[in-house]
Amino acid sequence: MSQLFEALDFVENPLYEQIINDIGKQKYAIVDDFFSVEEVDVLRTSILDKHEEDAFKKAAIGNKFDELIVKTIRGDVILWIDEAKSNYAESLFFKKINDLVGYLNKTCFLGILHKEFHYAIYPKATFYKRHLDTFKNDDRRKLSFVCYLNHEDWQPENGGELVLYLDDNGQEVEKVVYPFPGRVVIFESQILEHEVKPVNTKRLSITGWLKTR
Ligand code: OGA
Ligand code: MN
Repeated sequence: MSQLFEALDFVENPLYEQIINDIGKQKYAIVDDFFSVEEVDVLRTSILDKHEEDAFKKAAIGNKFDELIVKTIRGDVILWIDEAKSNYAESLFFKKINDLVGYLNKTCFLGILHKEFHYAIYPKATFYKRHLDTFKNDDRRKLSFVCYLNHEDWQPENGGELVLYLDDNGQEVEKVVYPFPGRVVIFESQILEHEVKPVNTKRLSITGWLKTR
């Protein structure tokens, strides 16, 4: 009986179906306006406030590298977000994430049980060299999720493009993604190598991972 109700309860969501199809076909999905202008606005205020409080840490890679080496690989500063202590902006963010995760779990049997998200700021002249998101020996990372919180007038000349390295029948193809505000990129963490090109203007984002058990 309850199963019947659940089945009747299910409403197909075209946006999520598009994401699922794209990831299935090409290992990534790009969604413009996943977050509205208003949502990006409150999230941008949140990231900038926290940065001003000096809460951010230099991002690490793996564990055994010293700071000098890290700087040659990535130059962003990050702050992990604790969902249990969400402010208003973060609760808006997690509401959308949890809705998407619920849908993925219902329709794709992905079994996403954990998630982790951090704010990221790339100061001018920083970058993140080509990498896979599973380098920390965390093979539970299934899907990488990036959402951009830059200003509405963000220009391609500001740099900081995300480049996804795709495989087209054995040929490597570069997919360039500009970090326009409200845009979300989701990709298979264990498959797609990618990098962030040097930025000319401070670049703001939230990055996270949807993880299996
Ligand atoms: C990362 C990453 C991509 C981006 O944080 O691991 O690859 O576009 N971010 O910010
Ligand atoms: Mn990455």
